[in-house]
Amino acid sequence: QAASSLQQACEPFPYSEDEYAYVDWDNLGFGLMPTDYMYVMKCSENDRYKEGKISRYGNIELSPSAGVLNYGQGLFEGLKAYRKESGGLLLFRPDQNAMRMKFGAERMCMPAPSVDQFIDAVKQITVANKRWVPPPGKGSLYIRPLLMGSGPILGLAPAPEYMFLIYASPVRNYFKEGSAPLNLYVDDEYDRASRGGAGGVKTITNYAPVLKAIMSAKGRGFSDVLYLDSMNKKYLEEVSSCNIFLVKDKVISTPATNGTILSGVTRKSIIEIARDLGYQVLKISHLSCSSDHRAFPKAEMRMWQQVEERAIPVEELMYADEVFCTGTAVVVAPVGSITYKDKKVEFRTDAEALSRKLYNTLVGIQMGVIEDKFGWTV
Ligand code: COI
Repeated sequence: QAASSLQQACEPFPYSEDEYAYVDWDNLGFGLMPTDYMYVMKCSENDRYKEGKISRYGNIELSPSAGVLNYGQGLFEGLKAYRKESGGLLLFRPDQNAMRMKFGAERMCMPAPSVDQFIDAVKQITVANKRWVPPPGKGSLYIRPLLMGSGPILGLAPAPEYMFLIYASPVRNYFKEGSAPLNLYVDDEYDRASRGGAGGVKTITNYAPVLKAIMSAKGRGFSDVLYLDSMNKKYLEEVSSCNIFLVKDKVISTPATNGTILSGVTRKSIIEIARDLGYQVLKISHLSCSSDHRAFPKAEMRMWQQVEERAIPVEELMYADEVFCTGTAVVVAPVGSITYKDKKVEFRTDAEALSRKLYNTLVGIQMGVIEDKFGWTV
């Protein structure tokens, strides 16, 4: 690490010609490893973003009364760049992150960069930091766009100035378990989001409130927490940092995005991959799901291979064959067990599990080793 800092300090501006930064590529986790450059673009209230700038990665200056520091007016995104065997770099669906940031910005009363500005900035920061993109099969460059109310404000109102910033870090597995199955804990004390709140957008304010639940679960040996809906404490929502899927016979189910659940890019991609594998995709409104899971046709009685986006009663965990999590950081992570009200249920995680097949297809496309018939990679 010291050698890497020295190398950075001595490196001539603008970009290093080195193919790779000095990193132990075999031991990457999800810790922050600052790279050479960041991207910053500013805009005042009621204006548009103009020219952004690449600069050395480093601290930023903010007023103590910045909207983001006082009132949490901020959003973030996460996407990854992969290095192909041929040496080229691939981004996965940056347009989806750009659109999600626009959607979230509207909810948080912030001006957002256009989709083209977002994608262009992501491309620039990836190329500027290309020596930090891990070798093929060793991980990816995690790209973290931020949008924040950077201008000073005292009364509760939108900030007068905004900053769009992107930094990046090489990463591999998100969980300390590596690629081993996760053990989740269903927390019915803490909620992640509630109806009418901002759970459906990637605001920074959705994350600090779940730290307490995560720390408590980790202290008891669990990998992470699965939350229930705040109104009834009956339906599955999502895990602190990712979406959740259940598999029962021919049916894959995931909680419908109804404003409290983040519309994950990986979630969406997995649904599309399943559709391509022959699964029929159904969006089932909350009202058509009975609160009694037995009243809803049993998965094994459904005729076709289906992906269902619907309200999933927590009891369905007891009957699931397989459970897996999806997210940009997490990718597709198999769940080995879930504990709810002191009852632990275990799920299959063997090599033939469906999550393995979905993972292989997704990662194959992301790394450029499987043909991208969806047109997702850039
Ligand atoms: C991601 O998967 O990119 C996220 O934003 C989750 C974050 C908690 C690491």
